[in-house]
Amino acid sequence: MKNPFAYGRVVEGKDYCPRPKLEKLLAEMLVSGQNVVLHGERRVGKTSLAVRAARKKRAVYVDFLACNDAGEVTERIVKAAMKAASNAGLLDAALKAFASLRPKVTVDPDTGAIGATLDMRPSDLNIGSVEAALEKLGELHKKKPIVVILDEFQDVLRIKESKTALARMRSVIQFQGDLPYVFSGSAREKMEMIFSDPDSPFFKSAITVEVAAHEGGAFQRFLAKKFSETKRKVGGGLFEAIHDMGVTVTGDVQQLCWAIWFSSEPGETIGEDSIEGALDTIFQIERSKYEDAVLNVSATQLKVLVALARQGGERIYSSDFKRVSGISVVGSITKAVQRLEELRIIYKHKNEYRFANPFFGVWMRTQFA
Ligand SMILES: Nc1ncnc2c1ncn2[C@@H]1O[C@H](COP(=O)(O)OP(=O)(O)OP(=O)(O)O)[C@@H](O)[C@H]1O
Ligand SMILES: [Mg+2]
Repeated sequence: MKNPFAYGRVVEGKDYCPRPKLEKLLAEMLVSGQNVVLHGERRVGKTSLAVRAARKKRAVYVDFLACNDAGEVTERIVKAAMKAASNAGLLDAALKAFASLRPKVTVDPDTGAIGATLDMRPSDLNIGSVEAALEKLGELHKKKPIVVILDEFQDVLRIKESKTALARMRSVIQFQGDLPYVFSGSAREKMEMIFSDPDSPFFKSAITVEVAAHEGGAFQRFLAKKFSETKRKVGGGLFEAIHDMGVTVTGDVQQLCWAIWFSSEPGETIGEDSIEGALDTIFQIERSKYEDAVLNVSATQLKVLVALARQGGERIYSSDFKRVSGISVVGSITKAVQRLEELRIIYKHKNEYRFANPFFGVWMRTQFA
């Protein structure tokens, strides 16, 4: 039987659990041409939400992940535009609009997906070409309304002279009146630097929408239905137990449900005691990653991680935390926590430090009990 739980990728269709309020809010903003920045932790569903809300119009989905220079940014924008134009039957018009950037349309032989490369020397691509590509999106929008999603937008900061790049992108975008942009990114601090720092060109240029993890009855019913469709029955207490383990982010809950499903048989009733076997399945897959992480942090950072796993991350300066970690100097705890945050091993949620990968936290607990 096919795996009913999708994780680690953008979800749509039957894999997507609706979040009607948030979708409505976002869709209304987009219809009125409002630019939006989506804030939220990793794997809560930002990208899936953005794509869903833009659905009725046409999403031009651009991923800036790990982009290194203006040429790559330009190419990714053009590629996304060609894909969206092709879906809308506007490929010819788009080719004309983007002619100065000399796009060459590509077709993936396996999937048939449309993409594009630019027939230009890399040295001819610069911040000016990024501006040009954004301007052309405006032309496309005039032919048929689009929504531009700039995902992992914080990675613009990786390109040289990123401040100039941001200023010039902003200057194009602010004159594109009714063309809505959704800016999304998984590195919260960097996104805040771009949109909330008064020195940034994008300061207050978009309305912030917070995306929290799915919770409550609707998501549980969604998951329970996936189990029942594949002949598993959900017993009481399952979802509470998952939550109490610290697995609270939408994508992580889906991953754990997958592992429970994978480790169970049709006809079984799934309960709290199904979790242990599921964790073993996850550990089997991820163990070498965890071991690398443990080997790559300093002795002090490791002590802090062990204490976080055992004590939780709400009171990292408490006497209990100091005792369990064996670190009594507050400054050392602070420094280790900062570094672990930079390494994206942990993140801060409200007043609590959490493992970015909750399963790593559970594994640490079993290893360093
Ligand atoms: N609406 C939803 N319904 C069901 N599952 C969802 C939903 N949104 C997200 N998920 C789960 O979370 C995973 C990650 O979704 P998505 O990539 O949209 O999140 P994200 O916040 O953009 O993540 P990242 O921080 O990695 O960019 C999905 O693979 C899926 O398991
Ligand atoms: Mg995303």
